[in-house]
Amino acid sequence: MQAIQLQQPGGLDKLNVVDVAAPGEPGPGEIKVRLHASSLNFHDYAVVAGMIPTDDKRIPMSDGAGVVESVGEGVEEFAVGDAVVSTFFPYWLEGPARVGDFTTTPGDGVDGYAREQVIRPAEWFTRQPQGYSHAESSTLTTAGLTAWRALVVDGGLKAGDTVLVLGTGGVSIFALQFAKMMGARVIATTSSNEKLARLRELGAEHTINYRETPEWGKAVKALTNGEGVDHVVEIGGPGTLPQSIDAVKIGGHISLIGVLTGREGEIPTAKLMAKQAKLQGLIVGSRRHQVEMINAIEAANLKPIIDREFALTEISEAFRYQESGKHFGKICLTF
Ligand SMILES: NC(=O)c1ccc[n+]([C@@H]2O[C@H](COP(=O)([O-])OP(=O)(O)OC[C@H]3O[C@@H](n4cnc5c(N)ncnc54)[C@H](OP(=O)(O)O)[C@@H]3O)[C@@H](O)[C@H]2O)c1
Repeated sequence: MQAIQLQQPGGLDKLNVVDVAAPGEPGPGEIKVRLHASSLNFHDYAVVAGMIPTDDKRIPMSDGAGVVESVGEGVEEFAVGDAVVSTFFPYWLEGPARVGDFTTTPGDGVDGYAREQVIRPAEWFTRQPQGYSHAESSTLTTAGLTAWRALVVDGGLKAGDTVLVLGTGGVSIFALQFAKMMGARVIATTSSNEKLARLRELGAEHTINYRETPEWGKAVKALTNGEGVDHVVEIGGPGTLPQSIDAVKIGGHISLIGVLTGREGEIPTAKLMAKQAKLQGLIVGSRRHQVEMINAIEAANLKPIIDREFALTEISEAFRYQESGKHFGKICLTF
């Protein structure tokens, strides 16, 4: 079977297409999945580009969607032919967060889903939403669930709230879609004037070019009658957090999710205190959160925004495209 292996030290030219032995049959509690799609996340990029060192010959990609080919003894949740999608934290099934690293995350600490078949414990997967393609389903594992948890699970988002999303990557576009689905109002930023119109088509009430308006935190406040927003989905980190603190309402909620501008920096802590805002770090979510999100997606008939699909063997080109920042929403691999 075909798989992708990452040679160490990583780099986009270190992704090799290899033929490896097909897996045998699943053991008790396991399923064999014929994988058909994966989707690219910034975390996958950090692994394959060598920013996060991993084992030599690691199979990348945390997101995987496909069809159950056979089931091991004792598996009741899935049957042959079921469409399934992987989870980001295979051992965090439910309850409060208890994983603070990527040692168990497919495509980082353990082998991921850039391959045609895999045998894993059944609970490493959930069902896919009805009517979703494998590519669409694969966008849920990381980007979809992060946005869902930030706004719905931990943010307690409700109709009429205001939400600020930053940029037009996978997490932010899902956040925009979930916010609209829940009846919230959205302010969205981007570096590209061409993308402003697309954000409005998806329902963003206001858009801001964050390059042309470096003090976008003040602009967001002005757009909300000087109040600020209820929720910020903060994908930038230290370079954007000071603006996000300006943009958030007194008593609002900032989900600290991303590292696009770096991993540490200077933050106006007194301003955050005065805002009495909640600043919460989070990483993706549990299997239970994924099941709940899928139920909601089906009820609302929400479909992810896929910018472009590449073949598995074009994985390096796919990551180069992500690196270019031209994408809007998700980039997928199909195989
Ligand atoms: N904590 C978690 O659970 C979790 C989960 C998923 C992702 N993340 C993190 O969230 C971030 C986004 O991930 P992703 O997979 O959605 O990335 P992605 O799809 O590659 O999105 C990147 C986009 O972010 C926007 N961007 C870049 N720099 C920005 C800045 N300074 N200010 C505002 N927007 C900026 C750009 O949009 P424009 O082209 O519109 O400017 C860019 O296209 C990453 O740091 C990733 O590690 C965290």
